[in-house]
Amino acid sequence: MEIFVADHPLVAHKLTTLRDARTDSPTFRRLAEELVTLLAYEATREVRVSEVTVRTPLTEAPGVQLSRPTPLVVPILRAGLGMLDGMTRLLPTAEVGFLGMARDEETLQPVTYADRLPQDLAERQCYVLDPMLATGGTLAAAMRLLVDRGADHITAICLLAAPEGLEHLRTELGKVLDERSDLQLRVVTAAVDRQLDERGFIVPGLGDAGDRLYG
Ligand code: PRP
Repeated sequence: MEIFVADHPLVAHKLTTLRDARTDSPTFRRLAEELVTLLAYEATREVRVSEVTVRTPLTEAPGVQLSRPTPLVVPILRAGLGMLDGMTRLLPTAEVGFLGMARDEETLQPVTYADRLPQDLAERQCYVLDPMLATGGTLAAAMRLLVDRGADHITAICLLAAPEGLEHLRTELGKVLDERSDLQLRVVTAAVDRQLDERGFIVPGLGDAGDRLYG
């Protein structure tokens, strides 16, 4: 599994303001969207395209367009919804599926409460949106669910990740990756933070992304 940490001053700048406890909810929403658009630029580096010819005002020129079926974007409710507009700004023709998952505050285990995905996952590149990769339980379950439905190319975009969560993801998905050489799983994040605290929060982190987005 490839982990890509965006190394760009604009990403770092926006993330710094997101971390700031004084950043209000409207600003947090706007910055989260902007940050996702920057991360999406990197996350879609391998998006499938087909060659086309375009007529310029002068002559014909070779070009590309997104292959069909178009990519599938899957925000994980609730906090992932705050990343959707930033993603579709870059991929306006993408289809959108939804996964509702919440982490049990006691056990830290993810519970799936909503699942609205198209059937043809085998033919689509999937982009999962979830701002926080903390214990990694939620993203591991989401990726596993998509793989079980046939997806073989999944990129997760996270604003922040914890080292423990990335390790958990590698462990949880390692077996299926060993068995399936065709599987491409990738995580793109703005930063990998120091650690998790005893409540499973990323430290230094940015707090609870869902609460900061939606109260
Ligand atoms: C948060 C976050 C991730 C999950 C990460 O969601 O948005 O989905 O926790 O934690 P994990 O890596 O330890 O599984 P939460 O469960 O708080 O739900 P919400 O998005 O509805 O706020």
